[in-house]
Amino acid sequence: MACKKDRVPFNGTPEQEAQLKEVIARLKDTKGALMPIMQQAQEIYGYLPLEVQTMISDETGIPLEKIYGVATFYSQFSLQPKGQYQISVCLGTACYVKGSGGILSKLEEVLGISNGECTPDGRFSLDSCRCVGACGLAPVMMINDEVYGRLTPDDIPGILAKYK
Ligand code: FES
Repeated sequence: MACKKDRVPFNGTPEQEAQLKEVIARLKDTKGALMPIMQQAQEIYGYLPLEVQTMISDETGIPLEKIYGVATFYSQFSLQPKGQYQISVCLGTACYVKGSGGILSKLEEVLGISNGECTPDGRFSLDSCRCVGACGLAPVMMINDEVYGRLTPDDIPGILAKYK
């Protein structure tokens, strides 16, 4: 999620690259190594941009298309960077019937990004999620570990202002 991929350049460091290469060297001869390598790569970089997928492909000899296929198939992998503040809007049933779709639309409007993206300054990323176990507070969103409940679209600008 910052970021639209054509807006935010990849800014991996040499240290991250060295870490990734060490992980790959350690795991690559193990059976089924691709998933753990990708999981650790995501931990190192926070997401799996094409540049990182290419590094994995170069170091392991696994075709980039296969790595891309895995990265896009499993929801645990993100091809977009996350924001400093990760907003998650619950679209579980209880929240949905209480209008969480409208909360999501308002966030998209105020932040100028779509669900699954991140603002160009890297500050906010926006995602939807399933029930977070706070149905009594529906509709609910989270910003990092903070839960906001009984929301209306009009609450959104004031809440976001706290994070600027
Ligand atoms: S459905 Fe949203 S918290 Fe349960």
